[in-house]
Amino acid sequence: MMAYSDRDSGQLIDLPADAPIQLFDLKTQQALIRPALEKRWSDILDHGRYIGGPEVEECERELAEFTGAADAVAVGSGTQALVMPLLAMGVGAGDAVFIPGFTYNATANAVLLSGAFPVLVDIDPRTFNIDPSDLQRKIDAVKAAGDLTPRAIMPVDLYGLPADYQAIQAVADACGLRVIADGAQAFGGKDNGRWVGNIAEITATSFYPTKTLGGYGDGGAVLVQDAAFADRLRSIRWHGTGDNRKESVRVGINGRCDSIQCAVVTEKLTLFKAERLRRVAAAEIYDERLGGLVEQQTALDGQENGYGLYTIRVQHRDRVRAALSEAGVPTGVYYDMAIHEMPAFAHCAVFGPLPACEAAARESLSLPMHPYLSEAQIHRVCDALEISLKG
Ligand SMILES: Cc1ncc(COP(=O)(O)O)c(C=O)c1O
Repeated sequence: MMAYSDRDSGQLIDLPADAPIQLFDLKTQQALIRPALEKRWSDILDHGRYIGGPEVEECERELAEFTGAADAVAVGSGTQALVMPLLAMGVGAGDAVFIPGFTYNATANAVLLSGAFPVLVDIDPRTFNIDPSDLQRKIDAVKAAGDLTPRAIMPVDLYGLPADYQAIQAVADACGLRVIADGAQAFGGKDNGRWVGNIAEITATSFYPTKTLGGYGDGGAVLVQDAAFADRLRSIRWHGTGDNRKESVRVGINGRCDSIQCAVVTEKLTLFKAERLRRVAAAEIYDERLGGLVEQQTALDGQENGYGLYTIRVQHRDRVRAALSEAGVPTGVYYDMAIHEMPAFAHCAVFGPLPACEAAARESLSLPMHPYLSEAQIHRVCDALEISLKG
């Protein structure tokens, strides 16, 4: 299996031409770090601080250092990493939070859990991310309706590509709104040289195992530019307690990330830069082979995709997927419904149409993307896609 030995090289690995293709591959990575993980787990078993062990602080320090954020707060999931900043800002009932109408359901759930209303904004069809001009339209519509107070924007860095933060921040500044980035899929993305986590004032990320920086269970982090805000999040993640962790000084939740998940994430961070280079190398081959054949997710000037997923648009998606599957190429659909097309969120599309979200839900198709794909495998995916498009 391990034809690959240089864990720090960004070169694509070499595999037999007929090696099975996987949408994600966590096993190859695990083999590289297993001895180090076993050492870390044994340390945790020895010290016994399963919650709040030294691994939590270590992970937070490493995340802040890697991204350049002022601080990082490890929490129990990416969803908690979205809810907790809203709680920390006092966003709740009667407030509007602007989110893209094409994202994972967690973005909408997080806003509703805070008590606020998620106003759905259309996406830019090229980037799959929130469209800044529709954002302005939706803010104006909310203000004109007068029932809700606009408080925050929660852009999503879909598939690993940062949203258009320059344009979004300009809108936020003009309208007095906060920005909480949903970077759950985008650890490793960049904007003008800045890592996701150090682009917006607040960024949520997820350690769900298949994310670019995943744990071996649930977890997440909030990366912030303001250390005082991080302190508030640390209180909220421990039921709103003060330093004694007994008396609640504000409303909070159990939002902690356990020592084991923090240890896994810290260890995986040692592989991260090389893995990211491999994702980029894989994407470059896809870009070259598929350019002109299908529409691909496109980065704006200065942006670099972290390639949590490599996503294209196709017509007749079911037929193309079936043909690819027949050829041994697994694919994913993220997502086949826009947010307002799900029953729980149908009431959220009251501020205007979302045509680009609906089109993306019909056409988006994600191809195999992980750091342990070989060049031959990527060409096999492209060959099969070419054939399936003709069919
Ligand atoms: C865009 C987006 N937001 C939020 C989440 C929630 O993360 P988690 O599953 O860790 O709660 C996810 C991940 O699943 C996601 O993809």
